[in-house]
Amino acid sequence: MSPRKAPYDSALGQIRELLKEQVERTERIGKPIKWLDYARLEKLIIGVIGGDGIGPIISRETTRVLQELLKDEIRSGKIEIREIKGLTIENRIKVMKSLPEDVVAEIEKCHVLLKGPTTTPEEGSGMPNIESANISIRRVFDLFANVRPIRIPKQGIDWVFFRENTEGEYILGSRGLMVTPDLALDFKIATRPGSERIIRLAFEHARKTRRKKVTVVTKANVVKTTDGLFLETAKKVSKDFPGIEWDEWYIDVFTAKLIDEKRRREFDVVVLPNLYGDIVTDEAAELQGGVGTAGSANIGARFAMFEAIHGSAPRMIAEGRGQYADPLSLMRAAVMMLEHVGKVEKSRRLGRALDICGIFERKLRITGRRDGATAGQFGDYVISTLADPRLDARWQAYEKM
Ligand code: IPM
Ligand code: MG
Repeated sequence: MSPRKAPYDSALGQIRELLKEQVERTERIGKPIKWLDYARLEKLIIGVIGGDGIGPIISRETTRVLQELLKDEIRSGKIEIREIKGLTIENRIKVMKSLPEDVVAEIEKCHVLLKGPTTTPEEGSGMPNIESANISIRRVFDLFANVRPIRIPKQGIDWVFFRENTEGEYILGSRGLMVTPDLALDFKIATRPGSERIIRLAFEHARKTRRKKVTVVTKANVVKTTDGLFLETAKKVSKDFPGIEWDEWYIDVFTAKLIDEKRRREFDVVVLPNLYGDIVTDEAAELQGGVGTAGSANIGARFAMFEAIHGSAPRMIAEGRGQYADPLSLMRAAVMMLEHVGKVEKSRRLGRALDICGIFERKLRITGRRDGATAGQFGDYVISTLADPRLDARWQAYEKM
């Protein structure tokens, strides 16, 4: 064997393995989706994972709010809020697993999961190469839809992003190859069923919530095969929704238009591949008031996870500012969770309380620093707002302003 050939052979062997897995996965996800009917559960189990950094702080406040909001259901045994331990970076490094097996077993016993941010070791950080817990949970439980609503009522902005959540650059993100010491290779995967199920969900959401438009975002002019398949699938799926307008944008100009005050309110439902969705939803959240204000739903057929869209903010902890973290993101995630499990009225109530506390009235301001309110004070503010019998009237008055 020539010395130059060896690295190719090893890389090709690994690529063959990856392709085999992906072909099998494509077949698996191509089967019709059987959704869990939450209304038929005798008891709903909500798992709560604190995570790392500011995670336990914001998840404590969110849990307190949920316990208050669901106190009747909890008392009668219809709902259980169950804390799951062990998904911390220390423990994950100790067992050298992105998702320790005992944690997976505990998650499997729940119907939905509320999850604080978890730390992802970066290449070169000195920590071992462990995959992001988010990405592992999304993949293991096949949570294919990442739904991220962004609202700025004063500017007429009401967007819902449907980010494909399992494929793209993410699915093999920890399995790239150094083909030679100087040649790095990563992979981007798109599948027809994977693209179809997220695009269909976006269109169905538009229909169900009477929204007028779906925008499909790709870079299909350059990334021709994978983004091309995504766009081609969108064209096909759109035919099943004749009442819903749709348009297509390239990610670069779409990103620009999100900060164009004249044009951006025309966007409505947006569906896009994984990495583009990751990036633009941070941008959109920043426009709404910061990544600390946005929640995120990771939805699969039988299970769903709800989380903040931001990370564990280790810098806040290092600087001793953890208690000033904004719990709004995870509370917004809880709103989505309640809606997902069919607790529509409770979801609306919590959503309105958060609008009052976080957007309209803002008696307390979270700045992430000592000059702002603490997460605990904000939790109290939300709980007292929830207790107000005039909550709906208060919210409506603000909405009209
Ligand atoms: C998100 C986060 C994650 C992602 C990270 C923590 C792996 O940025 O949920 O958007 O990239 O998906
Ligand atoms: Mg992100």
